[in-house]
Amino acid sequence: MDYSKIEQLARAARGQGQQVVLVLGLGFVGTAVAGNLARAEQNGRRLFFVIGLDRDDAAGREKAGALDVGRSPTYANDPSLERVIREACLDSKNLVGGVDPRLIGLADVVVSCINLDVQREAGQTEKLVVPTEGYAAAMRMVGQHMRPGTLVTVESTLPMGTCDRVLYPALCEGQAKQGVDVAAKPPKLAYCYERVMPGPDYLDSVNNFWRAYAGVDSASADAARDFLALYVNTAQFPLWRHKSTRAAEMAKLLENSYRATNIAFIEEWSKLAEGAGVDLFDVIKSVRVRKGTHDNMMLPGLGVGGYCLTKDALLAAYGAEKLLGIPAEMPFSRRAILTNERMPLRAVEWIERHFGGRLAGLKAAIVGVTYRPGVNDTRSTPSEIVARALRERGCEVAAYDPLVTHWDELPQVAVTQDPAAAVRGAKIVVICLPDPLYRPFLADLLKKELGPGAIVVDPWNMVVDACASDFAARGIALAVYGRGDYPKAAPSAAPSTAAHAAKA
Ligand SMILES: NC(=O)c1ccc[n+]([C@@H]2O[C@H](COP(=O)([O-])OP(=O)(O)OC[C@H]3O[C@@H](n4cnc5c(N)ncnc54)[C@H](O)[C@@H]3O)[C@@H](O)[C@H]2O)c1
Repeated sequence: MDYSKIEQLARAARGQGQQVVLVLGLGFVGTAVAGNLARAEQNGRRLFFVIGLDRDDAAGREKAGALDVGRSPTYANDPSLERVIREACLDSKNLVGGVDPRLIGLADVVVSCINLDVQREAGQTEKLVVPTEGYAAAMRMVGQHMRPGTLVTVESTLPMGTCDRVLYPALCEGQAKQGVDVAAKPPKLAYCYERVMPGPDYLDSVNNFWRAYAGVDSASADAARDFLALYVNTAQFPLWRHKSTRAAEMAKLLENSYRATNIAFIEEWSKLAEGAGVDLFDVIKSVRVRKGTHDNMMLPGLGVGGYCLTKDALLAAYGAEKLLGIPAEMPFSRRAILTNERMPLRAVEWIERHFGGRLAGLKAAIVGVTYRPGVNDTRSTPSEIVARALRERGCEVAAYDPLVTHWDELPQVAVTQDPAAAVRGAKIVVICLPDPLYRPFLADLLKKELGPGAIVVDPWNMVVDACASDFAARGIALAVYGRGDYPKAAPSAAPSTAAHAAKA
């Protein structure tokens, strides 16, 4: 929607007592935040008029334009998402999209949900490029357009020191360019990291969940607290006030690094179990009975995916060294990232051994493209690591995923929504995603479509119990992360046992 139309709507909304909130960045976080703000109400009246602002490029215009027609800019299999967005855009008309930075000047609150990527070569964690200057440029733009006194909250995941050392100075610079005396009227900047979880509880994971905040000063922190309290269910999930923006930045990084490290930890036990003929899934279940200390132990799997867990553990060391000037070796966090990144390649090593290194021309099927069941986000999926490695070795790769029509990061791989079409004629199948929706049909499909000499890698323990005996009898090899206990195909039937002998 264009600027003048939004300006009129915002003025009318403010006249009716609504606060005007601008959400910067309409990605996975921004969409959920905008939807939540738009549905927030008190005594039956909508609290906010929400403007979603994205970049003025093709992708940004498409996201903002989606709101004009009542569609969500991103997909989540949360049934409430499309309903909330449609209703807010088309009925209550308190959610609009645009790409004109002047829209920032209409806002009482700006919520920044833009991305901050970590760029690095695979296999190392020392040389990192984190474009904090790009984030600073966005804050300068906000400062240049916003009215003095506007609260700016940042929800993106940031290296420690970004708010106080990078973003606040940029915001002040932008305000000064407008001629604002920032000493007399300092901008309000708060950090309120996001825990949104794409999937069926996407919208609720923003406001029906624990939220934390901090400000560059107490006025900023108070303003953020009051703003969050308007739309977060604080009766059930009280807010956590951090002592500084650095502490809040650290909390988010620690949370995700902890999870990434726990996942990496299980990898060495997976290898041990495979060699020892043990079912690690069963062992972990037996350990998980110790409630409170061991009940969230991770299970083996293909790897870690998604935008956050593959990068956040590196942002702490980066922030410490580059922004705060303090040494930060962080060996566990760095090792976790490298272990998790290597994990999917074990599948490829098994496949290579199975075929004696001769993969050229073989059809390989990737079952599940995204990093998490129920999402269509293809960023940093373990499937991509497997598919790339198989293509490099000459395989013809096909993929199945019911939620993906085009694989942006790997457009050379055709994605079908028909699992039989992906698997038919394949000599290699890698089950990349433990989507419960696959369970009812996958084992039978593989038994029907695959023939002797094929190999199935089942890193998540999806089909092994249903298929192992049948596969062993028919000379189809099976390789499962963390399991060494299932029947193997006989050596005479196929070269597949080589894979198992080698990994043991
Ligand atoms: N995806 C998640 O589940 C999740 C969860 C918690 C935190 N986070 C963090 O939140 C941040 C955003 O993540 P995301 O997954 O939504 O990213 P995303 O890439 O899906 O969305 C970012 C959006 O911001 C827009 N953008 C970038 N620069 C802009 C600018 N200068 N002006 C206007 N728009 C701009 C992009 O075009 C894009 O639409 C990241 O720091 C991420 O680590 C993500």
